[in-house]
Amino acid sequence: MSLESIKYKRGKLEVLDQLLLPLQTKYVKVEGVEDGWKVINKMQVRGAPAIAIVGCLSLAVELLKDDIEDKKIMRQEIEGKLNYLVSARPTAVNIKLAADELINLANTLNADENVTPNEFKERFVISIENMLIKDIEDNKAIGKFGCEAILNNANDGSVRILTHCNTGSLATAGYGTALGVIRSLNESKKLEHVYCTETRPYNQGARLTAYELVHEKIPATLIVDSMVSALMYTRNITAVVVGADRVAANGDTANKIGTYQIAIVAKHHGVPFYVAAPLSSIDMSLTSGDRIKIEERPDREMTHIGEHRIAAPGISCWNPSFDVTPTNLITGIITEKGVFTPNQLKDVIPKDSAVVPK
Ligand code: MRU
Repeated sequence: MSLESIKYKRGKLEVLDQLLLPLQTKYVKVEGVEDGWKVINKMQVRGAPAIAIVGCLSLAVELLKDDIEDKKIMRQEIEGKLNYLVSARPTAVNIKLAADELINLANTLNADENVTPNEFKERFVISIENMLIKDIEDNKAIGKFGCEAILNNANDGSVRILTHCNTGSLATAGYGTALGVIRSLNESKKLEHVYCTETRPYNQGARLTAYELVHEKIPATLIVDSMVSALMYTRNITAVVVGADRVAANGDTANKIGTYQIAIVAKHHGVPFYVAAPLSSIDMSLTSGDRIKIEERPDREMTHIGEHRIAAPGISCWNPSFDVTPTNLITGIITEKGVFTPNQLKDVIPKDSAVVPK
């Protein structure tokens, strides 16, 4: 059975509390937008696609409970609540793009005189619920395209992959993006081994990716973040595959802190470096990665492990949660529509969804 980070049945939403993994499996109820904001902000649910889906589903849950009879008020409430949800974590763009699309939908439904308030709510909620299905379909396509690209460029029959952070079932509605590529390579029997980094300070690699890899019985080894150069020098790595929180129009990619240094090391060793992400992670409104807002998180993530202090009391900390890998270090961006070089992105994003670059 694959891991399920999001459990949803019409009007009922629960998320797997990722703060407790791998030691405890507990689901937290999300009864509306306030709960949605909190589980995202506290990182009980995390990963760009999962953040977007849980945020929007929390709105669906709330709407299904409300008896607003006025379409104009419903539209206003929707816009305010979506903007609030977007503020829970600033770097991943998926929730912002989903919110913009949903606000457009609410405007259209509000303006259409033939749509009753009940129909408005029903159609709006269904379009949110569809995000769950679409995300899994997109991830399977990403897995397939990524697997083909890596095998086409591999010199031998089996491959060794390095990944960073967690991009699997826990970070998405299911299957995963970069971990979806790894899953797909494993299904094709061509995966010799995968290495996952610990991913300090929040340890998404050691706690979550390692957990998923063990659960799926994929041959895997955990390394600490500072072992990446030694790994590339000694283990004949075929490719690096990571996820993304926001890809700018030129291909610069914000992802978990540490991704940038892995890309530099990969370049030095001539190892292809792939970003696996759905088109909903691409922000065509930003010309380059300099404009991506990087979330900074509390010192405690660095100074403590659980309740146990590991850093000297009194030391100051800097804890940016993401960094930006420049486009020139990226071999390809694996999407649900195929694998593209960064400079092909502008031709891939449908014109009607592309926001004019600032
Ligand atoms: O801080 P997190 O755990 O939300 O960061 C997650 C990542 O950086 C992932 O690599 C990214 O969101 C892609 S998840 C499919």
